[in-house]
Amino acid sequence: MPYENLLLETTESIALVTFQRPKVLNALNNKTLAELEDCLEKLRQDDSVRVVIFTGAGDRAFVAGADIGEFASHSQSQARDFSMCGQAVFNSIETLGKPTIAAINGYALGGGCEMALACSMRIATPSSRLGLPEVKLGIIPGYGGTQRLPRLVGKGVALEMILTGEPVTAEEALRVGLVNRIVPADDLIPVAKALAKKIIVNAPIAVHYCLEAVHQGLDETLDQGLLLESTLFGMTFATEDMREGVKAFIEKRPARFTGR
Ligand code: COA
Repeated sequence: MPYENLLLETTESIALVTFQRPKVLNALNNKTLAELEDCLEKLRQDDSVRVVIFTGAGDRAFVAGADIGEFASHSQSQARDFSMCGQAVFNSIETLGKPTIAAINGYALGGGCEMALACSMRIATPSSRLGLPEVKLGIIPGYGGTQRLPRLVGKGVALEMILTGEPVTAEEALRVGLVNRIVPADDLIPVAKALAKKIIVNAPIAVHYCLEAVHQGLDETLDQGLLLESTLFGMTFATEDMREGVKAFIEKRPARFTGR
């Protein structure tokens, strides 16, 4: 069954997920979030998919946030559930076990910015604007923004963005490390796919362990993170791909990884 608000296209081991509500700048309503949850589960289980790219339909927005119309009448407890539900979906992006790239093509505000923060990497078009404008609505970021933004760009820059609610330009986002690079709009998806292909040539299990080490390690002490790194490093020595990678290097040929 095709999704109503998401388009999933997979080619050459790369899944491209497009948010498709351009009339409301791809705002995330409940239906979209539920579809995203379902889509992520399929992508997690599909070993043929190695990298996932997210983008927005149209030329104005990646995702302009949660759908304000839908949450306006929430009670206190409904609002808490709403926040936890979105957080769980974005946690699924972060712990998908495969790299994710946010290809930001315009506004990435509120939940859109928070979704991009849950991705492994972000690239953006020159006219993109990223921000957490929730305080302008009398609320606070609820899909992980208060936690992931300071972890990525540092407390001072994050607090300036969160407390003013003002979006930053793509240039500013690049300067503070919020996006990895800026590319012309027409090149956005080709560049995202080229980046994905540079990852796909590497050993799948090693890529998976790198994601796990960085993601989990950042929430632990340095000693705990280093122990995790050593454990995962050791585990790569039990893989066929480790033998193949080293052998290919010695034989001066490209490695043929199988994911085992
Ligand atoms: N939820 C619901 N609808 C949204 C939306 C959101 N987060 N963001 C934009 N839209 C809708 C607008 O209501 C408008 O619908 P309409 O044509 O039926 O009036 C349409 O998308 C186009 O947006 P509009 O505001 O007319 O475009 P703009 O160019 O003047 O401004 C933004 C663009 C992104 C600056 C502005 O739409 C905005 O501030 N959106 C809300 C961003 C936000 O606060 N996100 C966090 C939510 S927690």
